[in-house]
Amino acid sequence: MIEAKGVWEAIANTPAPTLTELFTAEPDRLSRLSFDESGILFDFSKTHLSAPLIDQLVALTEACDLARKREALFTGEIVNVTEGRAAEHLAERGEGAPGSVARARGFQGRMRAMIDAIEAEVLGPIRHILHVGIGGSALGPDLLIDALGRNADRYEVAVVSNVDGAALDEVFRRFDPHATLLVVASKTFTTTETMMNARSVLAWMDEANVEDQPIEFLPVTAAPDKAVEWGVDETRILPFAESVGGRYSLWSSIGFPVALGLGWDAFETLLEGAATMDRHFRLAPPERNLPLLAAFIDQYYSRARRAETRAVFAYDERLRLLPSYLQQLEMESNGKSVKADGSPVDGPTAAITWGGVGTDAQHAVFQLLHQGTRLVPVEFVAAIEPDHVLDDGHHRALLVNCFAQGAALMAGRANEDPARAYAGDRPSTTILLDRVDPARLGALLAFYEHRTFANAVLMGINPFDQFGVELGKEIARSIESDGTDRFDASTRALIARAFG
Ligand code: F6P
Repeated sequence: MIEAKGVWEAIANTPAPTLTELFTAEPDRLSRLSFDESGILFDFSKTHLSAPLIDQLVALTEACDLARKREALFTGEIVNVTEGRAAEHLAERGEGAPGSVARARGFQGRMRAMIDAIEAEVLGPIRHILHVGIGGSALGPDLLIDALGRNADRYEVAVVSNVDGAALDEVFRRFDPHATLLVVASKTFTTTETMMNARSVLAWMDEANVEDQPIEFLPVTAAPDKAVEWGVDETRILPFAESVGGRYSLWSSIGFPVALGLGWDAFETLLEGAATMDRHFRLAPPERNLPLLAAFIDQYYSRARRAETRAVFAYDERLRLLPSYLQQLEMESNGKSVKADGSPVDGPTAAITWGGVGTDAQHAVFQLLHQGTRLVPVEFVAAIEPDHVLDDGHHRALLVNCFAQGAALMAGRANEDPARAYAGDRPSTTILLDRVDPARLGALLAFYEHRTFANAVLMGINPFDQFGVELGKEIARSIESDGTDRFDASTRALIARAFG
């Protein structure tokens, strides 16, 4: 069997026409490279994917044993080899090993019963939900509530992650401690920021003499024994499986504020939307497999064209948190230097994911995209239907701007004054949702998860561990417990300056 290295050599020798040349040479390009799946249009036609490159993609997936590794993910085999466990977020959507699916259904039953109790005011009159968590225990719920909860009048939800007291302070000014449900979300239930924030919320409640509430807080965790140490009744804990990774956990009990804030039906629709994309990723052939095609494009620009970043612009306020969510998903998963077997990688790993919101970003960073010296593959994410009350003119202007940017990046424009010339041939992908709803967001986020997994397989790395985050945490602990003597002069001076 051909090796991945050989395929990359063949890719390097494959002619690379410009985007405009590709549109001329391949009259059926748009129909071959734009796909309608789960109410979302994925348009890859403005990337340099060509018919010969897609042949190489097929060869690469074979060389990387993608079909077998994907099946291992779906059947609950140990794919997170460095930590010796499966990655079972798919089971939350009903797509994993039967035993894991049954366990996930059990956890979902507990969530649902809790929501019923809250709605029946068995747990007191609750108007505010304060979700405390960080990283994967916050970014997904925050994104979904921000995207889908704007017109929901069920509860006011706040997600607080930062240990910076300013974040909680802002919520304390708005929320009534007597009507607040504290949700403490932490897979490990040891994360310093989350535990400190939880303690501060409990102190705020104590100060307000909140004694009449039947529960103080709800822990959401894969380590129930740790939550029990906080004095919580075990029946109040919303658990999830250890095999669900933090940044893949919004489908599990971590999504509790989403299910409570938007309603159980909306949460189930979200899971079903994700499951549709799961089945697509599992079954579609490589040349029509969206997460795989997207991953191949990522790999092509990063490896063959040395792009160091990829930019994501949400042309929709409802999706403004998408770039931050993707930063954790993509960079924490695939920012590695060794393969799953411990050997050094033989090329660049995850590109730096960055981005913002359109049209604001056009007036800030697009100068570099159009005329800078660095190649930045751009991804536009937009939705056809708005859900605000302003007349259509706003939304039309938003979408026209989005489409115009993609066209401009690709076409460029010559000018005899070099300062006013646009080189063009700059790639972009457009992801256009019919509307922003639970089904489509479920499918979109599952697409990103599978794209991240496919990228990892094409690079040979394990996307499910994150040892890189540990050293800084350890040093922070050691500064607090052992002082600063063993640190460098700069660190010691900073600490002395801040704390005296
Ligand atoms: O420090 C990184 C990390 O471990 C993430 O992977 C995780 O999502 C986040 O911290 C929060 O962890 P926990 O859910 O255990 O509090």
